[in-house]
Amino acid sequence: MDGVTDVAFREIVWRNFAPLNLAFTEFVNVEGLFRAPHATVPKLYISPFEKNIVAQVFGNVSQLEYFKKAAALIRYLGFSGIDLNVGCPYPNVVKNKAGVYLLGKTEMIGRIIDAIREGVENYSRYESIFAKLLKGFDLSRFRIGSKPTSFSVSLKTRLGKNREAAANWWYFLDTLKLDYITIHGRYSKFKHSNAVGWRKLQLVAYALKTPVIGNGGIKTKRGIQRALRYTPEGVMIGRGFIGNPWLEKVDFKTRFETLYQHFKLYVSYFSDQNILPFFKHLVAYVKGFDRAKKLKLELIKLRDAKTLGRRLKRLASNPEQVLGQLRADF
Ligand SMILES: Cc1cc2nc3c(=O)[nH]c(=O)nc-3n(C[C@H](O)[C@H](O)[C@H](O)COP(=O)(O)O)c2cc1C
Repeated sequence: MDGVTDVAFREIVWRNFAPLNLAFTEFVNVEGLFRAPHATVPKLYISPFEKNIVAQVFGNVSQLEYFKKAAALIRYLGFSGIDLNVGCPYPNVVKNKAGVYLLGKTEMIGRIIDAIREGVENYSRYESIFAKLLKGFDLSRFRIGSKPTSFSVSLKTRLGKNREAAANWWYFLDTLKLDYITIHGRYSKFKHSNAVGWRKLQLVAYALKTPVIGNGGIKTKRGIQRALRYTPEGVMIGRGFIGNPWLEKVDFKTRFETLYQHFKLYVSYFSDQNILPFFKHLVAYVKGFDRAKKLKLELIKLRDAKTLGRRLKRLASNPEQVLGQLRADF
């Protein structure tokens, strides 16, 4: 998820949610990797805790050369697969003829997948470009030189443009012969709310030869079990992990120790100069209990990494005392 599933967050989920067996990066623009590497390449950091990690890309059909190079780079960096985004409804992505714009555009998708496959197969051809591109990056953040036993090519999309067009879309997806397809169980026009069509996902999973991973609205372990009845090959969890990498209730100590650990990881992978992107995680850990709002308001005022770090450390080591103090102050 864009702005969410960076390497620090993924490491936290890998460490706390044992059943996890596959994770995806935030989507990265194929051209951005080469034109603005300092902003884009860090989205491809890999944590040593990740068993199976796939990089997600987006772009449009005029960027086939970039798709090729991006696919080669992703293989070179040690990922176990590449996933094409055909579902993002952000206006700036759609305006750029990428994401959900591509849904239903079968010819364009066919060409993009061909370019990706070509890049994956011929990745060693590009190695000299990559050495230059990665100059200045800490190479221990990648897995260069590791040889994954297999490399998957997959796609993530939605149920279809609308009900009428859905079946044609599903059958087209099967013709791409991808390793798997992840389907967010909503039509294009809905963003991330509205009911998730698990029965439709079940139909697709049954109809297609390609394995289908279902996605949408899973927030608990029970939710996973329920969803697996519809898409038995697998389910994907997005927002459910934000602030809750256990997918269940945990005590304050565990919750705040994890928040502190997550913060330290964020700072170590990225920067202590701009901690604002971390705040969306912080506020998600600090909710749903007595005085949560007060604690949250206090924490989000701390914009300096050292001060916030000290506060989170105290909260992690003695949550009852900090929460007790908040109650007493009321
Ligand atoms: C903030 C945000 C960013 C997202 N970024 C991506 C993305 O980069 N790639 C992608 O395939 N889906 C993205 N999604 C969609 C999610 O992967 C997922 O399909 C959707 O949120 C429904 O699943 P969930 O209810 O488990 O979150 C994003 C969703 C949100 C809310």
